[in-house]
Amino acid sequence: MTNVAVIGAQWGDEGKGKVVDWLASRADIVVRFQGGHNAGHTLVVGNQTYKLSLLPSGVVRGKLGIIGNGVVVDPDALLAEIARVRAQGMDVGPETLRIAENATLILPLHPALDKAREAARGESKIGTTGRGIGPAYEDKVARRAIRVCDLAEPETMSDKLDELLLHHNTLLRGLGAETFEKQALLDKLLALAPQILPFAEPVWERLDEARRAGKRILFEGAQGLMLDVDHGTYPYVTSSNTVAATAASGAGIAPSAIGFVLGIAKAYTTRVGSGPFPTELHDATGELLGTRGFEFGTVTGRKRRCGWFDAAMVRQAVKVGGITGLALTKIDVLDGLEELKIGVGYNIDGKMYTHLPAGQRAQAKATPVYETMEGWSGITRGARSWGDLPAQAIKYIRRVEELVEAPVTLLSTSPERDDTILMRDPFEG
Ligand code: IMP
Repeated sequence: MTNVAVIGAQWGDEGKGKVVDWLASRADIVVRFQGGHNAGHTLVVGNQTYKLSLLPSGVVRGKLGIIGNGVVVDPDALLAEIARVRAQGMDVGPETLRIAENATLILPLHPALDKAREAARGESKIGTTGRGIGPAYEDKVARRAIRVCDLAEPETMSDKLDELLLHHNTLLRGLGAETFEKQALLDKLLALAPQILPFAEPVWERLDEARRAGKRILFEGAQGLMLDVDHGTYPYVTSSNTVAATAASGAGIAPSAIGFVLGIAKAYTTRVGSGPFPTELHDATGELLGTRGFEFGTVTGRKRRCGWFDAAMVRQAVKVGGITGLALTKIDVLDGLEELKIGVGYNIDGKMYTHLPAGQRAQAKATPVYETMEGWSGITRGARSWGDLPAQAIKYIRRVEELVEAPVTLLSTSPERDDTILMRDPFEG
């Protein structure tokens, strides 16, 4: 028995929701360790559909949910999400949800700055979710952030607000955006305090106890490896580290406690927001993938850019992210395509690369080097065993495994929970 960390191996939206939900039903505790309410996924439990952004998936399965210190928490968004889930009949309270006392808070000035900066960037915008994620992480690193524990200390909040407003109002004014008043923010935080503090605790202690008691812990990553602030397509990335190693620092647990790292990758590639995407398709096949895969963002509703599976990129994610096994999702979207392409490297100014170099210009110029494979005429949709798969689909999966240098340990063949083929149970290590 081991713990499991689930991380995206592409640019997010890899279909983590279904896999995490399935694993959450078998875990004792589900922990979010990075990101914030920029993440989003839809869970169908019985006849209810839950849209979660900040709450760990396990809470709708009645499991203990933990929001780790590595998450940036927007208290308004959190309370609204809790209210939504409660209205659907789910019991979410301090008994089922714990929040790290040292997690950073997102304040109203963070989305304001996020949006003002994006507007000022014009054509070169990052395409953020506008939720204030980047500015909140900046404040954390700059040592001026207000954290969950500060809600119990009005004077600390008052002092920190002085420093925060000096910084933010100067920027907002420069960007021609509205500024913020200290008293209004302080009153807001004082009103939020009794609603948030009952959830707060040193979660590392609870995790340590759980670990010693042999409980199964599921670490639920958000976004994807190519959105990692260090390893992704910088600057077109999110503001946190999305690699599995972050589960340790973002929850307060030993790296050795992370266990099996399950990387999630779609059988093709998508991306929302701006930035390089070498295997992107601007043709009818790209449109087809988007329509069949229902590729629209859960959080912002934006249409996702679509393209072929980029094995060079996923291989990089496997190496950098420490991925033990891969869950390949949405293979059914490829059903019936005559020919399939897999990106195996990049051509940049006539030079061949088997990985995406870090330079921004190099990434923008990268054109994919493809391997072409025959498609399959049978269907993978709804397959529940290896034997149900067309031979050519198995060939495709085997080739993916070879190229990314990791085994496919789980295959998802439709949005339905049971349409899953499990080759290796991650909790068994
Ligand atoms: P931010 O995280 O809102 O700062 O956005 C930075 C980049 O990450 C943008 O390209 C977003 O579209 C992308 N992003 C953030 N969260 C997600 C996610 O959950 N799925 C996919 N893309 C995301």
